[in-house]
Amino acid sequence: MKIEQAHRLKALPPYLFAEIDRMKAEVAARGVDIISLGVGDPDLPTPGHIIERMKRAVENPRHHQYPSYEGMPAFREAVSSWYRQRFGVILDPAREVVSLIGSKEGIAHTPLAFVNPGDVVLCPDPGYPVYSIGTIFAGGEVHLMPLLEENGFLPDLDAIPEEMRKRARLMFLNYPNNPTSATATKEFFEQVVQFAKRYNFLVCHDAAYTEVYFDDKAPPSFLEVPGASDVGVEFHSLSKTYNMTGWRIGWVCGHADAISAIGRIKTNIDSGIFQAVQEAAIEALTSDQEPVAELRRIYQGRRDLAREFLTKMKLRFTPPEASFYVWARTPSGLSSAQFVGRVLTETGVVLTPGNGFGKYGEGYFRISLTVNEERLSEAFSRIEKLKW
Ligand code: MLT
Repeated sequence: MKIEQAHRLKALPPYLFAEIDRMKAEVAARGVDIISLGVGDPDLPTPGHIIERMKRAVENPRHHQYPSYEGMPAFREAVSSWYRQRFGVILDPAREVVSLIGSKEGIAHTPLAFVNPGDVVLCPDPGYPVYSIGTIFAGGEVHLMPLLEENGFLPDLDAIPEEMRKRARLMFLNYPNNPTSATATKEFFEQVVQFAKRYNFLVCHDAAYTEVYFDDKAPPSFLEVPGASDVGVEFHSLSKTYNMTGWRIGWVCGHADAISAIGRIKTNIDSGIFQAVQEAAIEALTSDQEPVAELRRIYQGRRDLAREFLTKMKLRFTPPEASFYVWARTPSGLSSAQFVGRVLTETGVVLTPGNGFGKYGEGYFRISLTVNEERLSEAFSRIEKLKW
């Protein structure tokens, strides 16, 4: 029997990182020593005190049953107190925070709560693919907002056509930005709040990288801006801040009615997060944050190595102030795929092609700083030897 897939699945391109894994496996099969600067998956382990808390929590039979759908009250309180301390933002843990099985899950499901077939969702390009994929799954229409170098990789709100503004139900934003590593100012967020109020759509800000910043320049939360919680929600995750990508835990917070709508979607789709993982997350958010400061120092050292390498290669790039990505132009007018393909097959170094994040990423590539300095230097010295 031939199993027919739904149109929505057929319409999707291969998931970017799954495709990169496939190419990587082909090269590895030839015996090449692969250095992956592809997917943004931290190489360092989850801090020990978080693991210890998890070990204890696993023994507790209370956690062996279904978890609460919205997240344990203690988890939501931990999120709320972390937001107050880090951003000065006050959140009601009962109404303004919902747990997610990682922010990717929440982002993918959010359009189901707000988008009717034919509604428009404003998505950044280049951008994390899940914003558009979630939109397509909900039957929505994606309107791309180009993130251009000359605009500091911020969307030009004035360039969004009037018709799209009127039909928009959601706008996805993400700062510090993946893949460009750009940061946004509070002034930009203020403009977004005014714009969203005027055209009556929900702002969905993905803030997964706010804790990976350099030179003591801590990026703001969207919710810090006056009026933001009237028009928006913010997605956050423990993945990047505490090296917990495998644990699958994050949250969405902000506008109470929007949070309740996302919660309703989730109640019908999943059954929450293993409570032992929530206990570990509480430990992460409420304990001493020195491991996060140490993580920043490590990434800053790696960022500096990447800066030296790109400068030596005479490639155009803006040194990142945050995130663990570096976004640079390919050499000699090569396409993203040509450059990244040659680097992979001839050196075993995995980079992410910029066009994998959308058409405005063409001509760029992304380096993920998620290997140690020794491996990073080895990767750079292999690439430097290639002739373009
Ligand atoms: C990336 O490499 O862009 C990220 O790892 C994707 C993610 O966070 O899921």
